[in-house]
Amino acid sequence: MERLLSGMQPTGVLHLGNLEGALRNWVRLQKDYEMFCCIVDWHALTTMYNRTDEISSSAREVAAEYIAAGLDPEKCSIFLQSHVKEHAELHLLLSMITPLGWLERVPTYKEKRENLGLNEESLSYGLLGYPVLMASDILVYRAQAVPVGKDQVPHLEITREIARRFNFLYGDVFPEPKAIVNESAAVVPGLDGRKMSKSYDNAIYLSDDADTVAKKIMSAFTTETKIRKSDPGIPETCVVCQLRKLYDPEGYQTSWEEDRRGERGCVQNKRELIDIINASLEPLRIKRKELLADPAQLEKYLEDGAERARQVTSETLTIVRKAMNLR
Ligand code: TYM
Repeated sequence: MERLLSGMQPTGVLHLGNLEGALRNWVRLQKDYEMFCCIVDWHALTTMYNRTDEISSSAREVAAEYIAAGLDPEKCSIFLQSHVKEHAELHLLLSMITPLGWLERVPTYKEKRENLGLNEESLSYGLLGYPVLMASDILVYRAQAVPVGKDQVPHLEITREIARRFNFLYGDVFPEPKAIVNESAAVVPGLDGRKMSKSYDNAIYLSDDADTVAKKIMSAFTTETKIRKSDPGIPETCVVCQLRKLYDPEGYQTSWEEDRRGERGCVQNKRELIDIINASLEPLRIKRKELLADPAQLEKYLEDGAERARQVTSETLTIVRKAMNLR
């Protein structure tokens, strides 16, 4: 059975971008692959090193959301990155063979640098090394593939480059993992039309109740030039229409055609979308709440997941140390 690894940062609770862009794919893939579903709490430290208490509570919520969305903790291993120390050991070893230039070119690094307004003094070593830690997360399982949203594809490229370099220097140890992207949700738009992201404050969260979802969708961007109901809309650039397509793949076309012809107003469009999204999220909300009400059981899932993960990672590190003559 091929092995897959993927992860999410517990910088907060999950949003529809995480769910549709990645998590739904994990749920689909779990029956055909040996899956490792990580909650990357060390990665969260790159931006939240001064709010560590939030990371550990968010990590438990993310675990509950993984399971509420349909991951079966018996079938796939759900665990915290910091519970499996081999991620850190491999990170250290890979950091020795990763050229700085590769890291400085990574688009997410450049983006974070600009968005967070960081200068040379406040830029941390960990933030620059983020992709090396991510490569370690993947390679420590010798994973063949990684299901992610489109924004993570550059990170996968650098992971493959690091694997190739390691194999060239020390012999064939790592497969070159490929990205598995769900094309219909590769980039889920947020309420303002940019990529849905916690840092843009444009997200709908799995933890939002029905009223919050309604308020958020009522405030979403539509077609800028559509003022009256009879003005034609452009569904391709309207957030509400895009989300409708994602959540109503069979039925969205009629609403798009009416929008294009100026036969439907944005308010109707929004009301319908609110009902569709709330109906889709409701079972997940209920399951999420149940799981969070039993923290001991949740902790048990995480311990079991870490235990299974360590079986693979300790084997990988034995191979790696041998290949590198670290006797
Ligand atoms: P993170 O925590 O930002 O996002 C988790 C997953 O959600 C996807 N995603 C989206 N997909 C579509 N549309 C969106 N608006 C959207 N927003 C987020 C992301 O692509 C991702 O799949 N670096 C990773 C975490 C990580 C990781 C790993 C991933 C660390 N180690 C190893 C895979 C394998 C990150 O920051 O994801």
